[in-house]
Amino acid sequence: MKPTFYITTPIYYVNGAPHIGHAYTSIAADVLARWKRLDGFDVFFLTGTDEHGQKVEKAAEAAGVAPQVFADRVSADFRDMAVQMGITNDDFIRTTEERHRRSCTALWQRLADRGQIYLDAYEGWYAVRDEAFYGEDELAKQPDGSFLAPTGAPVEWVREPSYFFKLSAWGDKLLELYESHPDFVGPMARRNEVLSFVKAGLTDISISRTSFSWGIKVPGDETHVMYVWLDALTNYITAMGYPDENAEKWRYWPADLHLVGKEIVRFHAIFWPAFLMAAGLPVPKRVYSHGWWTSEGEKMSKSIGNVIDPRALVEEFGLDAVRFFLLREVPFGGDGDFKRKALISRLNVELANDLGNLAQRSLSLIAKNCGGVLPGLGETTEDDQNLLAGADALTGEMRAKLDRLAFSEALEEAWKLIRAGNGYIDRQAPWALRKTDFPRMETVLRVLVDLLRAVATNLRPFMPASMGKMLDQLGVSAEARGFADLAQKLPAGVALPAPQGVFPRFVEE
Ligand code: MSP
Repeated sequence: MKPTFYITTPIYYVNGAPHIGHAYTSIAADVLARWKRLDGFDVFFLTGTDEHGQKVEKAAEAAGVAPQVFADRVSADFRDMAVQMGITNDDFIRTTEERHRRSCTALWQRLADRGQIYLDAYEGWYAVRDEAFYGEDELAKQPDGSFLAPTGAPVEWVREPSYFFKLSAWGDKLLELYESHPDFVGPMARRNEVLSFVKAGLTDISISRTSFSWGIKVPGDETHVMYVWLDALTNYITAMGYPDENAEKWRYWPADLHLVGKEIVRFHAIFWPAFLMAAGLPVPKRVYSHGWWTSEGEKMSKSIGNVIDPRALVEEFGLDAVRFFLLREVPFGGDGDFKRKALISRLNVELANDLGNLAQRSLSLIAKNCGGVLPGLGETTEDDQNLLAGADALTGEMRAKLDRLAFSEALEEAWKLIRAGNGYIDRQAPWALRKTDFPRMETVLRVLVDLLRAVATNLRPFMPASMGKMLDQLGVSAEARGFADLAQKLPAGVALPAPQGVFPRFVEE
């Protein structure tokens, strides 16, 4: 039986159209899901939409339609974005589905039965944009006397009856969790924030609202709807069949990895494990956060008009170039600035030149000089052996980086090998060997094919379509493209299709 691997993206608020930030989380999760599948895991990959709460209710009101109609429309747009980005999710969950209402109701009931919930009144600050409660000490006072949340979101004073979750009772258990599972939350900067927040002492949190109605009703008290974050976080177990713990999919729980943006770490690394522990359910294994993208040096905002639409980028540059760029350009976990020039340069230098040309040069020499069939490996030199050893080691090197969510470093491992391949072809000059030493030329070209095969196989999770094309051209059958298949060498003598460029250079008009 294959080991399971359950990975999630956050579920996206349906208050507006998907942008590059949403595509980023989804693409990163997709690369890991694809990687784990090729690495022999039984993967479940979940994404979806977060549809309740005041923020969505207000957006629907502004659009002049009922919240459900609005949510249906925007959720469909997120689903389309996932398709356009090549996301291979196994399920797409919507929090307005009946299965999710059942699941949230059951979780609430379980928390209530265990004495974790009590009725009181909330009085304090709330930011609709973040759907978050803030303590006054966290806010920044503006010159006009108003307050802003640490995220820059405006806050309002709310006062209403509310159910509370006894978060204060779980501080020690959370600290134990972080202590015994040092990888539970990362990267380090986020872990430190979480630790200091919990160490400062947790207060009970409001988990229901009465001043609006777009949400899941609290069982037994229909004047309250559940706080949208309790509702939203529960999606991760709803999709596993909760409350049916005999469901076939329940075996995937606890999740191996919740991938999130840095602004929602608190919810995932503090509230979520506390809810689960309080309910007597297993907690996720890991929460890992990425940073934020700005656009050409500025914060993205609708009013500036610099919000990057991932689908427009794909149309212009191609999906694989966009997927590659987002994970290559910025070390995962840190913030990054999206620059059009940087994308074009990565595309032309690393994809078209380094990788594309290496493949094109090697394959066209085979087409021209070897009658279009795959040459065999003759006697090898130290130079050949070094390169082949690098090709064999690539999966292991990349796996080690990806286990640390270091996407860019994993790609750098592949590029080290690609650059070594370019040095090798220049040094060995197979085009000159044709007349002087034909068998040696064959060996050199074969070494290059083996290198390209390792590169294309390991890069498939990042650039599925173009690496698929490259593997076609290398004569690798569609069933033999997993990492374990690399141990089986390609048989010499098979006919290869005519070589075709995989990454055209991008020329700015
Ligand atoms: N609905 C909540 C998540 C609930 S999960 C139980 C939510 N939704 S969101 O649509 O606002 O954001 C979803 C993801 O998009 C977050 O991981 C967030 O970090 C990411 N991004 C949104 N804007 C971003 C950038 N400008 N840059 C990078 N990612 C950012 O939060």
